Amino acid sequence: MDMLTFSLEPESSTPLYEQLYLHIRQAIVDDTLMTGTKLPSKRKLGQFLDVSQTTVELAYAQLLAEGYIESLPRKGFYVLPQEELYVRRGTSTIEPLPTKKTYTFDLYPSQIDTTAFPFERWRRHLKQVVAEENHELLALGSVQGDLVLRQEIATYLYHSRGVHCSPEQIIVGSGTEQLLPQLLDLLTDATTFGIEDPGYPLTRQLFEHQNRSYVPLPVDDSGVLVDRLEAEAIDAVYVTPAHQFPTGTILSVSRRQRLLNWASERQTYIIEDDYDSEFRYSGKPIPSLQSMDQNERVVYLSTFSKSLMPSLRIGYMVLPPPLLNRYRERYRHFTCSVPRFEQHTLTEFMASGDFEKHLNRMRKTYRRKLETVITAFKPYEPLVTITGASAGLHIVLSVDTAQTSEQLKQLAEQSGIRIKAMADYRINSRDTRPQLLFGFAALPEATLQTAIDQLMACWNIGKGGPYGKTSR
Ligand SMILES: Cc1ncc(COP(=O)(O)O)c(C=O)c1O
Repeated sequence: MDMLTFSLEPESSTPLYEQLYLHIRQAIVDDTLMTGTKLPSKRKLGQFLDVSQTTVELAYAQLLAEGYIESLPRKGFYVLPQEELYVRRGTSTIEPLPTKKTYTFDLYPSQIDTTAFPFERWRRHLKQVVAEENHELLALGSVQGDLVLRQEIATYLYHSRGVHCSPEQIIVGSGTEQLLPQLLDLLTDATTFGIEDPGYPLTRQLFEHQNRSYVPLPVDDSGVLVDRLEAEAIDAVYVTPAHQFPTGTILSVSRRQRLLNWASERQTYIIEDDYDSEFRYSGKPIPSLQSMDQNERVVYLSTFSKSLMPSLRIGYMVLPPPLLNRYRERYRHFTCSVPRFEQHTLTEFMASGDFEKHLNRMRKTYRRKLETVITAFKPYEPLVTITGASAGLHIVLSVDTAQTSEQLKQLAEQSGIRIKAMADYRINSRDTRPQLLFGFAALPEATLQTAIDQLMACWNIGKGGPYGKTSR
């Protein structure tokens, strides 16, 4: 072939051989050097470009190693077929991940109060776990999570939620978002799932990603409408009975019983997501569905994301024995996704009583914040009414306005406030009037009043009700 004319820069910090390699590679990728083209000999190209033969040799060696060219004995170097290079020919650009916007008030519903985290106690347990020089912890542990942690979780669940289980039934994983896909993998017989509408978006996304079909089940003041299960051909169901996400309703006792009966008759499973049951502020404790189940039909799922911190990425599920056997068959060659040092720190945190203390403290903190919020909204009633305030870390605001929830969200955004609408969590169901989710947990208590006044001002809702100073 003719010579290759590239301008190499001897002053550059990139070595000459690498410059030459990059030029030739680009020419191949661009198709300027087509398949089967013979490259000039090393000696001739070296002379032509006024570089040493070793420079050319190194460049060709790199191209050879990466499969751009081949070397035929006594013939020379040839450009390889284009098909083999399709990966490198792509022109796709990589978009940077969007950066997180900061808000004056962020009312996103799943946030926790991070200011009260007992760093000192956590650090003490962490230090102890590392200081013991427990070499065993450097090796892989049980796929289900270490037994000591599972024992602590089983004891905690029995006392706090009436969950009956042996530590052997517990699977520890990196939160609900990692455990749910594993669970769906085990429920291969179920083709159509029932999910709450409105509901936790992750479940719907998961079904969509996995091409599993689902039926949205409406939710009313007594929780999800379980009679729809019988009407629709549903094989398994995902529910949040203790504190429906995001409406905050509690599944009534009669519906719980019907749900359990349905699962027993159909010999199918109920996935009970008990994600924030630690924080109840009024009424009797709500028993878990699992504690009422006599027929091994409930998979209990929970997380430390609300009770401790979302970044810990530790959640767990309790599998009924038939599913446990399936899990062990399928996952026996896998490893637990939670690092063992974190598992043991959490074990110590629970065993020492620090977890219980932290929960008690957070319950008080959240209760106080909730009371402040309810009091601060009082003057804006009845244009704004509150529901879902008996548990959890957010409440639902129903707003009497001619505007849509999307418009209300936009107005809040312009005022430096991030707020989610109920409509963001809906599938087929519709708002009767705009509803928004007010996450109160993360805001400092002293700022709650200002946040509420600013929100009301940007929605043009005044104090004093419709016959007072209110304007809309
Ligand atoms: C219904 C529900 N389940 C579970 C979680 C927690 O998920 P993870 O354990 O993956 O943090 C949340 C968090 O907001 C939730 O709203």
